[in-house]
Amino acid sequence: MIPKPHTHRNAVPYRPLDWTGIYPPVFTGPVPTHVALVMDGNGRWANRQGLTRIEGHKAGEAALLDVVAGAIQAGVKHLSVYAFSTENWKRSPEEVRFLMGYNREILRRRRDQLNEWGVRIRWAGRRPRLWASVINELHYAEKLTAGNSTLTLTVCVNYGGRNEIVDAVRAIAEEVASGRLRPAAVNEKLLQKHLYVSEMPDVDLFVRSSGEQRTSNFLLWQSAYAEMVFLDTLWPDFTRVSLWRAIELYTSRTRRFGGAQDAPEQA
Ligand code: FPP
Repeated sequence: MIPKPHTHRNAVPYRPLDWTGIYPPVFTGPVPTHVALVMDGNGRWANRQGLTRIEGHKAGEAALLDVVAGAIQAGVKHLSVYAFSTENWKRSPEEVRFLMGYNREILRRRRDQLNEWGVRIRWAGRRPRLWASVINELHYAEKLTAGNSTLTLTVCVNYGGRNEIVDAVRAIAEEVASGRLRPAAVNEKLLQKHLYVSEMPDVDLFVRSSGEQRTSNFLLWQSAYAEMVFLDTLWPDFTRVSLWRAIELYTSRTRRFGGAQDAPEQA
């Protein structure tokens, strides 16, 4: 049994999904099942206004909630967000401390609201170094929302894509070394089974805010065939409408998964 880590007093008013009164456009193709999201640009957003980086992170919470609501409205089934990477430990001790507490507090403040929206919360990441209080909140939120199926929100905390693959390979190597597994049985399906959230489907759409155009070690395995969309909007200014724009760009593309078809131009 996971003890309830904190007696929750709902500090944030509950909001219906469509509190903005804004509804998604009619998309021209299938909506992505799994969207991966790099929430980048909090620091730049703050510094441009003469604020500290921490103020920028604080402003990112509302953006996240709005985007979750917009994902549900659009029919997205999985949303994975990069909340704290294994590389983020390199930041100043003050910022790291803030981000740890911030993750914990967002889970506390928002879990009941997300639960009411039918969101299932999962955690993907490594245990070592991660604050015990954050792990407790993640486990509590996972347990609280385990029965939900509207949208799975995977919060990637102390997450790194290479580390995830290394951890999976190490677990497989141990099985081989102990004689429980034949090397010839190691294949993509087996490796997938050893990832942090083995049921996570492949990423269809990979979105990054703030204009940076890189993956930064996020969901490397799962994003092998993802469509990449980079939007210039800084994370605190990101809304459900930004997500829908990314989905529109996604639906306008042709996905081939390595295949090809002749399409000679008409003269
Ligand atoms: C990157 O901006 C943003 C982060 C490192 C933190 C994002 C986390 C959240 C919005 C909260 C998520 C929490 C939960 C529980 C889901 P940056 O600091 O790299 O910005 P910069 O590139 O402008 O410096």
